[in-house]
Amino acid sequence: MSAEEQQQNGEQVEAQQPADGEQVVTPWDVTGGADGKIDYNKLVEQFGCQTIGADLVERIERLTGCPAHPFLKRGVFFAHRDLKELLDAYERGEPFYLYTGRGPSSEALHLGHLVPFMFTKWLQDAFKVPLVIQLTDDEKFLWRGLSVEESRRLARENAKDIIACGFDVRRTFIFSDFEYVGGAFYRNIARIQRCVTMNQVRGIFGFTMEDNIGKIAFPAVQAAPAFPDSFPHMFGERKDVRCLIPCAIDQDPYFRMTRDAAPRLGHIKTALIESRFFPALQGESGKMSASDENSAIFVSDTPKQIKNKVNKHAFSGGGATAEEQREKGANLEVDVPWKWLNFFLQDDAKLEQIGREYASGRMLTGEIKAELIAVLTEMVERHKRARELVSDDVVDAFMTVRPMTDLYG
Ligand code: TYM
Ligand code: TRP
Repeated sequence: MSAEEQQQNGEQVEAQQPADGEQVVTPWDVTGGADGKIDYNKLVEQFGCQTIGADLVERIERLTGCPAHPFLKRGVFFAHRDLKELLDAYERGEPFYLYTGRGPSSEALHLGHLVPFMFTKWLQDAFKVPLVIQLTDDEKFLWRGLSVEESRRLARENAKDIIACGFDVRRTFIFSDFEYVGGAFYRNIARIQRCVTMNQVRGIFGFTMEDNIGKIAFPAVQAAPAFPDSFPHMFGERKDVRCLIPCAIDQDPYFRMTRDAAPRLGHIKTALIESRFFPALQGESGKMSASDENSAIFVSDTPKQIKNKVNKHAFSGGGATAEEQREKGANLEVDVPWKWLNFFLQDDAKLEQIGREYASGRMLTGEIKAELIAVLTEMVERHKRARELVSDDVVDAFMTVRPMTDLYG
């Protein structure tokens, strides 16, 4: 098939391969281009997804009757696949469900991980739809060298942080691959596996002959939840319930593969809504990573740790001295406290005021950092209080395979 035909008929599965010095974005590696930054427009082009414009944001507000979440208004969720088709179907009264996930590689989530979950919670409330959350303990076992027991334990710990985001237990099913894979779910995994060749996964994910065979088979496990009949206790054997996946754009390769397989298996292609990365404390060049303690703030950090990390490690676009800052102002383009406030300071008017004052030099670096510390401390402390209420029984309630009726009530 020519490239053109492929564009028309199927998914463009393989992204164009980056040349030397170009940015790399895969589920395992996020590195900026020559200037260290991630060029999101280029990424959209490379991957073949669409950007989200003001018209689409307004349409979501109109359909749900809810003011858009700041992540949507401010372009944190900036790209999509088939979101228009999904909204058309929703408008016709056809059902959809949400699917997102987490690879449990650390004891606690960091603030970057909260981004898709906070947004998914908003989507669930706004559209009143069911949600499945996959904990890929098998993935972290295969990639990170954790033991099976440790991966399972981390999955349960992470489930508590996820539940603390406020999901509705009547409409939310959280599962770990090590617990849930089998039955209808496994039958879909096998169907997907038969659709994908070694050549394709190598092209999409860059696997080599030295990778263990578990890694090569895993993408089908992350694809299966995008098909509703993987969850018979929720959707029976229905294939006509659409799926929408909120995630950061690093997960796109999995779902290019999923969308390519879907029509061949009689399924609707999953829709996606994709976010930018919440940057590391050190700056824009990558995403916040759980494996580098000082690049990230965790939902378990104390107020003192938050304060120290922001003051010591947050990359500043402000002047080197107070005098220089007063004279020249700050470069908001590279300033991490400013970028972080854009994610988590809800008050639009206050945000705009801080941007103006700081860029002009009337506000100092120490002052914007203090604003950020206040916002983060409040958010993390609120999260901790919510997490304390998540007992083992509550985790079981979300993770038990149970008949779920009333999904759309
Ligand atoms: P994981 O655990 O690496 O990440 C969980 C989710 O958080 C997003 N994310 C970020 N978002 C913004 N800024 C960051 N710095 C940042 N770091 C991570 C990820 O894109 C993801 O949405 N294999 C997946 C688990 C998974 C999944 C899914 C995720 C299975 N099925 C379906 C999304 C949708 C993983 O290990 O995610
Ligand atoms: N593969 C993801 C990771 O390692 C975890 C994941 C599984 C996921 N299913 C997902 C992420 C669905 C987003 C959406 O980070």
